[in-house]
Amino acid sequence: MTITNKTILVIGGTGMLGKPVAQQLKADGFNVRLLARNPEKAQKLLGAGYEIVKGDVDNAAALKEALTGVDGVHISLKGGPTEADFDRMDHLATRDIANAAKELNVGRVTILSAYAVSEEKADTPESRSKVKGEAALKSSGVPYIIFRASWFMETLPLFIQGKSISLIGNQIHPLHWIAAEDYARMVSKSYQTDETLNKELYIFGPEAYTMGEAMKIYADHAGVKVAPMSTQMLAVLGTLTFNAEWKGMAVLMKHYENWGEDGSPDEANRLLGKPNTTLREWSAKHRK
Ligand SMILES: NC(=O)c1ccc[n+]([C@@H]2O[C@H](COP(=O)([O-])OP(=O)(O)OC[C@H]3O[C@@H](n4cnc5c(N)ncnc54)[C@H](OP(=O)(O)O)[C@@H]3O)[C@@H](O)[C@H]2O)c1
Repeated sequence: MTITNKTILVIGGTGMLGKPVAQQLKADGFNVRLLARNPEKAQKLLGAGYEIVKGDVDNAAALKEALTGVDGVHISLKGGPTEADFDRMDHLATRDIANAAKELNVGRVTILSAYAVSEEKADTPESRSKVKGEAALKSSGVPYIIFRASWFMETLPLFIQGKSISLIGNQIHPLHWIAAEDYARMVSKSYQTDETLNKELYIFGPEAYTMGEAMKIYADHAGVKVAPMSTQMLAVLGTLTFNAEWKGMAVLMKHYENWGEDGSPDEANRLLGKPNTTLREWSAKHRK
């Protein structure tokens, strides 16, 4: 696919990981359309120069309007914390977008997934829903690209509570932390070649650190202390305080206690260019 006069729809373009993709596609010369539940919010966040279709992924008419005439669609949705909502966003929305895209002859559907999404590792409502969503995407017949990304550096500040950063669970696996900007460049590049079609591409940053090591690097820049907490403790706190997000986080972090990275980033790096932002560089730029 060449860029001239190509339009890419981004679904989830106001999100933490969808916004940089929308911005990079625009910077690279694509026309970018957003499907947004709140167009004013989208306009405020992203600025001028985006075509915005108002709508929810649950609404078939809005989805059809947003998908009409586009060359590709990038999905960056997030479900949860209930099992029903994971199914709605990670499975059913992906299925509906893929089927509508196929019907409307959209050239490709790209989706942000995670390295630990597979039948074997589907031990949480989120990972089970993502597995089903990917299966629906593949069986829809539309050309696809699945990005199997590692942990994003952008998630680190989300663990800060006051003067500490919570290290939840016994996170022993080395992870190739990736900067959203590098990932966004890779997604945009994936739209500029047909070699990427029907592939699952592993998006891994340049260095591997366990979550504890990564948090220490970020904490030193942000001026906070790493505070370890078990997944059981977080689950109990979530139950006692009726905090569904904390309970969901305990489940997520248990999942990552179990599963380290596998898969190789070589193909993604060859086709899309190697990501090069280091965690120290990123942390220096993103002190909280
Ligand atoms: N964190 C990581 O390290 C990591 C690694 C790999 C993969 N991922 C995956 O990346 C995905 C995106 O994460 P994120 O942090 O960017 O999520 P996020 O910031 O919560 O963004 C979610 C986006 O989805 C949109 N959205 C939600 N419900 C919608 C609906 N019904 N109709 C239309 N749009 C809707 C939101 O729009 P509004 O502005 O309207 O809310 C927002 O733009 C998740 O599936 C996550 O599992 C994350």
